[in-house]
Amino acid sequence: MNITQEAIDAIENFSMPDNVGFGKVMLPIMAVAEYKDGQWSQVEVKKYEKLQLDPTCKVLHYGQEIFEGMKAYNYKDNGPNLFRPLENWKRFNLSGKRMAMPEVPEEIFMGAVEEVTWLGRKFVPKRSGESLYIRPFMFASECNLGIKPAEEFLFMVVASPVGSYFAGGSIKVLIERDMIRACSGGMGAAKTGGNYAGSLLSAIETKKLGYDQTLWLSATDKESIEEMSGMNFFAVINGELHTPEITDTILNGITRNSLIELAKSEGLKVHERRMSITEMISAIQDGSCTECFACGTAAILTPISSMHDRGGKDYILKEEYGPIARDLRDKLLGIQELSIEDKFNWTKLLNR
Ligand code: COI
Repeated sequence: MNITQEAIDAIENFSMPDNVGFGKVMLPIMAVAEYKDGQWSQVEVKKYEKLQLDPTCKVLHYGQEIFEGMKAYNYKDNGPNLFRPLENWKRFNLSGKRMAMPEVPEEIFMGAVEEVTWLGRKFVPKRSGESLYIRPFMFASECNLGIKPAEEFLFMVVASPVGSYFAGGSIKVLIERDMIRACSGGMGAAKTGGNYAGSLLSAIETKKLGYDQTLWLSATDKESIEEMSGMNFFAVINGELHTPEITDTILNGITRNSLIELAKSEGLKVHERRMSITEMISAIQDGSCTECFACGTAAILTPISSMHDRGGKDYILKEEYGPIARDLRDKLLGIQELSIEDKFNWTKLLNR
């Protein structure tokens, strides 16, 4: 690993605003490794700067790109500690495989993530719920317009001190019955930019109608609940937790999987299964579904206060922020912030 003096100077001279928002303030450093001739270069950590790309850089035309979202916490100076970073590394390489990209070795991925976090440790926010959001990504950097897999890639890591993803607490969700996010055999399970780009038109309509997020349904039956673009979906029905089972059209969320393990360890019954939207609406209307929530690295656990259909049909949850959501969020965040014992061994404390 090479760390430039400019990067060290940049981080020493950095000052962080008190109110950081989400993804707006970037640490003034970045890690870069280049893939060329079938080999990875060593990681270089340098001053954050704009990239110079040739106009025929393949990612700009064919979207060969993947990314991850992960967090380091430093609540009350207990960190910095990363949350399940190896899970992000594994998922990164699964996304890369689907997008015909080379594997990033563990030492490159983890080396870059840990070095950026360590150099930026003074700027990992200390208030509860705040963290350093780390964004590893890789894109096709080869330049030419041939539509074939690139042979040159850049792997990079940047990081942003963040507060909450949703300023308002709970969210209102629009059921998307027209547009489709992913189909079987496609790339819905990969964390690649195209999945997010494809969600944006619906996001514009959702906002216009006064809601916050889109709930996607399956391309096959336009009935089964899938996910919410940047988050997975959960419902509490008759006191038990239900979430769509993972298929190749749903991102396999690390927060989702952690909440499932956590809930089971608390004695809560968890069902990973096909969930139909018709059944969900009836369960909200007859009161058996008391809580719904979304979860993800950025969103942590965010309660859903209501679901909506176009044309003004509203389904209001019994609890805007119910006891099960509250308890799971407190416990998950407690482990992430090391204020609760991490009996799952999920956190990786950086200590040099
Ligand atoms: C995350 O939770 O890390 C996400 O990827 C969601 C969004 C910020 C893209």
